[in-house]
Amino acid sequence: MVVETRLHPAELVLPMFVREGTSEPVPIASMPGVVQHSLSSLPQAVEEAAAAGIGGIMLFGVPEKKDARGSGGVDPKGILNLATQVAVATAGDALVVQTDLCLDEFTDHGHCGVLAADGSVDNDATLEVYREMALAQANAGSQLLGLSGMMDGQVAAVRDALDGAGFSDLAILAYSAKYASAFYGPFRDAVQSSLVGNRRTYQLNPANRREGLREVELDIAEGADIVMVKPAMSYLDVLSDTAAISPVPVWAYQVSGEYSMIVAAAGNGWIDRERTIYETVLGIRRAGADAVLTYFAIELAQFLAADGPAA
Ligand code: PBG
Repeated sequence: MVVETRLHPAELVLPMFVREGTSEPVPIASMPGVVQHSLSSLPQAVEEAAAAGIGGIMLFGVPEKKDARGSGGVDPKGILNLATQVAVATAGDALVVQTDLCLDEFTDHGHCGVLAADGSVDNDATLEVYREMALAQANAGSQLLGLSGMMDGQVAAVRDALDGAGFSDLAILAYSAKYASAFYGPFRDAVQSSLVGNRRTYQLNPANRREGLREVELDIAEGADIVMVKPAMSYLDVLSDTAAISPVPVWAYQVSGEYSMIVAAAGNGWIDRERTIYETVLGIRRAGADAVLTYFAIELAQFLAADGPAA
């Protein structure tokens, strides 16, 4: 009776990787239990997610070829756009098919944007590519665009592109307070990132709490339908600040490194896997997240359905 926070499968979103040019799912070494799906293994995985009752899936593409401009992300036949079509056809109305709108999986330099002549990330030139990418994803049937690139003005630019092309009903999930984090390490394995250097010129400094909230406010003003804080567990203060002021839903992303730490420690018998999953996602919800992206989404949903909340 006095429990303040409860978990429900509908509040969980599963990030999924889809790799071009493979017929079998490929395991990700640094994320035991997570695979890069093939286009042919994707439908069964989407069905499993739907059966677990989770709210959505977030798709990431792993292309065979990368280039400086990230053309694979804009190409209607690019792996992410093909995967989106497959997922939407499989899922029907059972869950929300969401797509990562960012260039890092598609660029040979591994940055989230295109580069200027001096090698720095060119914010405004990147916005032009994001606009094209948004339309490609919208045409592929994506139901929620996840803007994770941290370029200034990206929400306004994508909103304008969508509205101009008749997609005014398509919603934007803004990765608003996204910090330059060591916890993304295993993800870069998962998408075979070719990044040299770091993302500190466009992702936030982990030392800055006020700045996270400022980024959230900017994205809301630009028309974000949902705002996100990422990573989750080391940024619960930013999440709580965001939840206190946001007029739109607030989500958080329990990222790859957070996943792998739990899997590793539980695999060694050092912590209880189920209870740790439950407690971490509960903590993220308690801090203010309305929904949580987590690689544990299906496992947690099945656990909730079978046993109810852990004591
Ligand atoms: C960028 C993106 C990243 C993640 C989600 N979207 C990588 C990055 O910013 O370096 C990380 C997610 C995770 O670690 O699970 N497309």
